[in-house]
Amino acid sequence: MLQSLGESLWAHQQRIRFGGLPLWHRMSVITLAGGGVVLHSPTRLDAELKEQISHLGKVVAVIAPSWWHDLYLRETVQAFPDAALYGAPTLVRWSRRLPFTDILSDSPPVLWKGDMDQHHVEGIGLFLDEVVFYHRPSRSVVLADLLFNISQSDAWLTRTLARVVIGPYPGCRFARLYRPFVVDRRRFRASIERILEWDFDQIVVGHGAVVQNGGKAVFRKAFDWLLKR
Ligand SMILES: [Fe+2]
Repeated sequence: MLQSLGESLWAHQQRIRFGGLPLWHRMSVITLAGGGVVLHSPTRLDAELKEQISHLGKVVAVIAPSWWHDLYLRETVQAFPDAALYGAPTLVRWSRRLPFTDILSDSPPVLWKGDMDQHHVEGIGLFLDEVVFYHRPSRSVVLADLLFNISQSDAWLTRTLARVVIGPYPGCRFARLYRPFVVDRRRFRASIERILEWDFDQIVVGHGAVVQNGGKAVFRKAFDWLLKR
């Protein structure tokens, strides 16, 4: 079932396993002011979900925002053959068999320029390559793995292991496991500061609970370790 997350923004969650860890994986669905629907980080499509999406409009684009958010891309573009497929730079470079239309960068394509800004996060290891989005109508930042927000709705095993892999629970955090992959602290910090310039209140994470209000303070706190030095 699609869940409304504010003006022109919906989401759908599905359970996946990541390295044995049961996780919720979220797809964000954006309806564009000019018409058309954009799918960010697709989940598996079933008939009901496909119908719900189709009710919102014609799917014009599918976004794979990071190297690891490459699930169900082929079947999603097959289900919506008129959709353009956009991917994070590393994913496009390494997944030559997927029918990408274009590479995501700091410049939003004309298609969603009126609705969303985006930023290619710099200074982190290639496998964490991620393009972050700011959806203006709902004042939301839409993420893949930049932050995790493990909550009570996650499995006991996930909550337990998350303490080690991600950090103290509960909380919206940049995974502890990822910190060694911040290869250029200055550039990474500049990226985080750039995201903080957006006027957002909500954080839609790829895994975990949505931060509905006060997102900017939560985001800043998650990067305290980076911003304070
Ligand atoms: Fe992810």
